Amino acid sequence: MQVGEPTKAARVVVLGMGGTIAGRAERAGDNVGYDAGAVPVEDLAAGLPVLQGRNVSFEQVAQINSKDMRLADLQRLVDRARVHLADPSVQGIVVTHGTDTIEETAYLLQTLLAPAKPLVLTCAMRPAPAGSPDGPQNLSDAVAVATEPGARGVVVVCAGRVHGPHEVAKQHPYRTDPFDSGDAGVIAQVEEGRVRRFRDWPVAARRTGRAEAFLRASAMPRVVWLSSHADAQAWPVRALLAASPEQRVQGIVVSGTGNASLHTELDAALREAEAAGVRVVIANRNGAPPVPYPQQPFADIDGLSPPKARWALTLDLLEA
Ligand code: SIN
Repeated sequence: MQVGEPTKAARVVVLGMGGTIAGRAERAGDNVGYDAGAVPVEDLAAGLPVLQGRNVSFEQVAQINSKDMRLADLQRLVDRARVHLADPSVQGIVVTHGTDTIEETAYLLQTLLAPAKPLVLTCAMRPAPAGSPDGPQNLSDAVAVATEPGARGVVVVCAGRVHGPHEVAKQHPYRTDPFDSGDAGVIAQVEEGRVRRFRDWPVAARRTGRAEAFLRASAMPRVVWLSSHADAQAWPVRALLAASPEQRVQGIVVSGTGNASLHTELDAALREAEAAGVRVVIANRNGAPPVPYPQQPFADIDGLSPPKARWALTLDLLEA
């Protein structure tokens, strides 16, 4: 569908994945009891001034709550994004997505595609018919980033802030600005439709370009995420090791306390797992990159947070 008369040749593609930005509530003003992913992506953009006179096309890739994201949904998104990125008439892509797992999707897209054009994920914390929804402003800001000259790579735009795919993390269940980029800070802000940039656009993640293997796979390698905590014990790891060969875990991401430290019991069990051929990597429970130290029990992956380290290990094992 075209919105208005296209006055600019360059096209913006808006891909819909669902989420609260496409949420439908029984009562206007209900910001917690709604169905995520109910409103079609084209309807979200209807009447947005930022799209008037632009050449825009819409595609509904999925219509889901992002907590329920499946491999097939991600594969479809990677595939469609790849097709549109390769189209010379496309300037940038916007993806409407739920906030709950948007940080995982952002990391995955950047790692698999490392796009030279902007691939901008956006979202909302209030459903579409809320009394004062945040989605329309976030979508407008996302279009501003997707059409910003020189913009490139995967970013997450929410509440006027532009986050990088490696750092962005959802930190709050209710605020309309729920994301944080930790010590790295945001890449940019969007102010009245203008992008004020503070640091470089995202660079390729290590070992990018594995989209083919990802798209071909019927299942991902079996990688689980465990956490250390007070009174952590060995039995969850031993239970994983006891599984039948087809169910056998291939990788474990463990969230450490403090600076990647592990309870002694869990540490011992994970060393048994490693000796049995399971890849074990560590991340910090608090999400910050570990500060390397000689006795660090297991290697981290680029200081990634646990959910992103889980994807990084999964992709490593996919290639192994
Ligand atoms: C979701 O992640 O799809 C629901 C929650 C949200 O978008 O805020």
